[in-house]
Amino acid sequence: VENERQLIDKILRLKKEKRAVILAHYYTIPEVQQVADFTGDSLALSARAAETDAEIILFAGVHFMAETAKILSPDKKVLLPEPEAGCSLADSCSAPDFERFLRDYNGYTVVSYVNTSVGVKALTDICCTSGNAVQVIESLPADAKIVFAPDRNLGNYIKQLTGRQNMVVWDGACGVHEEFSVEKILELKKEYPEAKVLAHPECKRAVLLTADYIGSTAALLKYASTDSADTFIVVTEAGILYQMQRENPQKRFIPAPPVDSTCGCNNCAFMKMVTLEKICSALEREAPEVVIDEEVRRRAEGSIRRMLQIGR
Ligand code: 13P
Ligand code: SF4
Repeated sequence: VENERQLIDKILRLKKEKRAVILAHYYTIPEVQQVADFTGDSLALSARAAETDAEIILFAGVHFMAETAKILSPDKKVLLPEPEAGCSLADSCSAPDFERFLRDYNGYTVVSYVNTSVGVKALTDICCTSGNAVQVIESLPADAKIVFAPDRNLGNYIKQLTGRQNMVVWDGACGVHEEFSVEKILELKKEYPEAKVLAHPECKRAVLLTADYIGSTAALLKYASTDSADTFIVVTEAGILYQMQRENPQKRFIPAPPVDSTCGCNNCAFMKMVTLEKICSALEREAPEVVIDEEVRRRAEGSIRRMLQIGR
């Protein structure tokens, strides 16, 4: 049995030998974030995947993220250490259901959150992430008729921010972000009156109303590092606390609790499936690899490229 240090050394050696790059989402476990060449939110990770010159991309995250990297870099080998790492939000919108739904919305511009399968992206005009959703919607003409999928919380939040009336929102959600308890956040606010509440826009509206600041994981991290407050209640997946604490050792970060405090559901079970052992094995075997049908990939690619042109 190898200990953690040996495992890390082996990963670093294999990475160099194979000219591989490891990209990790902020929600993965700290050990995984430590071996990554780059850690970021969905937007930064897709931009990195588009520009890397490494021969192998190992994606420490969930399936749609690795798939996005493969859509952008079809000639590269994209490894996903745990192929069962899905996403409840992406699963709330299947491509066949979405295709049927769109039949009622001819002439609408389809905007999809990146948390979708390649099949849904192939039906999409332009993707967005929580980091650039406002810019993406504002890049469309003021009278554009828009379908937004799949996150109802992000969709309704953006609709309200941009004042777009002609926006139809798909009824999907993330099982982690929907579980936060307003009552428990308010209790924490009473206990720590000076604390600022930071929330991700995938949370329900009632939760967002308690927030001092709303943003993508990267935006929340930046806010926590630049704001003068010294205590923060963090209402997103708890993995982000690792980077927040690392960048701000003198500040205090309190993870917001879910409604059921025994379920541990402020942790994304899918993101936590990615371990050092699985990363090491994937690099060694150069498998499991993400494979996408070329025809579907080509149809999906434009939606991500259009998003990347808009930026943040
Ligand atoms: P961001 O990385 O855009 O903040 O999204 C959070 C998320 O749920 C990723 O799965
Ligand atoms: Fe999907 Fe939610 Fe996990 Fe993000 S936190 S990967 S949206 S299930």
